[in-house]
Amino acid sequence: MKKAFPVLLLFALLLAAPLFAADPPPQDIEARIEALLGNMSLEEKLGQMTQYSEGQSPIETEVMTGSEKDRQLHKNKTSRERFIALARRGMLGSLLNCIGAAKVNELQKVAVKESKLGIPIIFGYDVIHGYRTIFPIPLGQAASWNPGLVEKGAQVAAREAASEGIHWTFSPMVDIARDPRWGRIAEGSGEDPFLTSVMARAQVRGYQGSDLSSPSSVAACAKHYVGYGAAIAGRDYNTTEIPERSLREIYLPSFKAAVLEGVATFMSAFNDLNGVPTSGNRYTLTTILRDEWKFKGFVVSDWESILQLIPHGFAANRAQAGMEGVLAGVDMDMADGIYQECLPALVNEGKVPMAVIDESVRRILRIKFQKGLFENPYTDITLAPKVLLAESHKTDALAMARETIVLLKNEGKTLPLKTTLSSVAVVGPLANDGRNLMGSWYAQGRDGDNVPILFELRKKLSPSCKLTYSQGCPIEGPAKAGEIEAAVKAAKAADVVVAVLGERGDMCGEAASRSSIDLPGRQQELLEALHATEKPVVLVLLNGRPLTIQWAADHIPSIVEAWFPGTMGARAIADVIFGDYNPGGKLPVTFPRNVGQIPIYYSAKNTGRPASASDKFTSKYLDVPVTPLYPFGHGLSYTTFEYSGLELSSASIKRGEDLQVSVTVKNTGAREGDEVVQLYIRDHVASATRPLKELKAFSRIHLVPGEARKVSFTLTPDSFAFYNREMVRTVEAGAFSVFAGGSSQGGLEAKLEIE
Ligand code: NOJ
Repeated sequence: MKKAFPVLLLFALLLAAPLFAADPPPQDIEARIEALLGNMSLEEKLGQMTQYSEGQSPIETEVMTGSEKDRQLHKNKTSRERFIALARRGMLGSLLNCIGAAKVNELQKVAVKESKLGIPIIFGYDVIHGYRTIFPIPLGQAASWNPGLVEKGAQVAAREAASEGIHWTFSPMVDIARDPRWGRIAEGSGEDPFLTSVMARAQVRGYQGSDLSSPSSVAACAKHYVGYGAAIAGRDYNTTEIPERSLREIYLPSFKAAVLEGVATFMSAFNDLNGVPTSGNRYTLTTILRDEWKFKGFVVSDWESILQLIPHGFAANRAQAGMEGVLAGVDMDMADGIYQECLPALVNEGKVPMAVIDESVRRILRIKFQKGLFENPYTDITLAPKVLLAESHKTDALAMARETIVLLKNEGKTLPLKTTLSSVAVVGPLANDGRNLMGSWYAQGRDGDNVPILFELRKKLSPSCKLTYSQGCPIEGPAKAGEIEAAVKAAKAADVVVAVLGERGDMCGEAASRSSIDLPGRQQELLEALHATEKPVVLVLLNGRPLTIQWAADHIPSIVEAWFPGTMGARAIADVIFGDYNPGGKLPVTFPRNVGQIPIYYSAKNTGRPASASDKFTSKYLDVPVTPLYPFGHGLSYTTFEYSGLELSSASIKRGEDLQVSVTVKNTGAREGDEVVQLYIRDHVASATRPLKELKAFSRIHLVPGEARKVSFTLTPDSFAFYNREMVRTVEAGAFSVFAGGSSQGGLEAKLEIE
């Protein structure tokens, strides 16, 4: 009898479970999808496959065939009225850029209560690195090499966005970028497929949480599928030519990682990939994404990327563009209304099978069910004021901003500065600026939320310290007469100069490619003038991409890379400058010496003629070293770390076996600090040539002075696998090296044989 109680209890709980379950079980979802589908007209199906943006004026298709009176009525409607009309007719699957719980609820109510089938709308928005509390740009977040923090940042962004009615974010951007001229390098995790994959998974986990239907989760979107970051010459939207091997080894893994993490949606990209635009590319959208990876969510096009099949020269007109898009595997059409307008005729003519439409609608409805929109279509309007910019969110943003900062150089220990200085000259167009701390995609971030760096520096110093500020020159364009001279005068009168230079927030992000990635405007001249005063200069950089700062690296003693660090960025920078926080970030992307070296990345091949100083006929330049200015994985600290005892569980393993790797890292300096322990491999001889180094594992650790820690990693067969000459992913027997260190350059090496 004693034992029977728990069994009975369990039985009773199992019976009662459906009463408590928040979401219907998956088999119910499928049944409900089929029930809806069976009742939907073609118009309603295409409505689900359509997304518009707030402010657009969609055409109501009935009007196109209606009377003159209908047309006149339509003409006089506002954009909002048109959306309400569409929602009422069950023809608005999704809306983007509609912000605010009350506004969202109003439209949602029409869809849920007044349309025939009551299918809720999914509201989307670009929440890229924070919603109201702005976190560092994604490239900066990757510099933290801390997926736990990145996950938390996405969670905060989701909570804030969801409180304003957003169900779906167009993030993470998991494009690999190896050309810093491309402004969108700021939105991703840099050059490396492994680091980007880890960050992709962290972001998806953060946005979606363990339960997508939770009111504080948002559906994530892996974008821009695929190869968008390989835009020729770094010019945004440009053509991409990516061989199958590079596609599979460099550009696809981060998308696959997002699928493995359960990402709800994908976004097809703008770029032409090997002659087939990615929004009309059946090979990538169906063969790889659906057939190989078994992705169950839905694909949305990028903004009018279906329409853009016309200028690509891939479709002659809107109808053909719509047909190419839907047959390739794009389920939802963003912003151009082509599916709604053109697919009815194509379906009736038999050019687009109804089965294709039905499958897309299923995928969209499935995510709506999983998001819990049928159960909870509305947003609690009392939530936002409690959630937006909450103190705990600012604390998380500060923690992340600190960890993203990379100390590029610190000669003569110029940093950290002493708080007892008697005078400091703060110079530069970004020192007294709140807005640009947020970068380019700052959602609902507000200028007034961000304290400029100047103020945070002031707070650190004693009241008797004389702190001056001079702009020196604007971010871009000519300086006013006497501006640089005034900054020099202030520098001469100070003990130390803090120069805050870099880019405007909107000089990175979409449509923000630069052919020169030098400091813009007259900032280089300003920096040289400050240096000429012979005062110690600390250079703080705010930027969304690697800049070409060879001169600064040669002349300025301390350089702090702060990216665009977000709402709490100024405080984080001040903490680093005055040593209240010891920086430990590492570069997620290579810094070139000049644009001529681009593309430059650590995982290059050896070539048949590796660069040699003594042999002219080797792979190098006549005018610049072949090495980068700062390599991938580089970043200094106010303390020092020593690596020793790199050990492999065995010097020889069989194919299919795991390998344990351990290395001891010791803090040999006088301050506690973080180190990112990085593990790379090299496959020396293979049936297809392999990179000199490939990142396979990493761990950010914290050590107090004198502390030594053995850090262990497991490398799995997948870590050693690659696409062989026949393009089959496999591990080949042979000699490997395993490297451990604090950067992609140097480090300890151990030899491994795979049999
Ligand atoms: C275009 C951008 O490429 C994409 O990243 C973004 O999500 C959409 N516009 C929607 O705003």
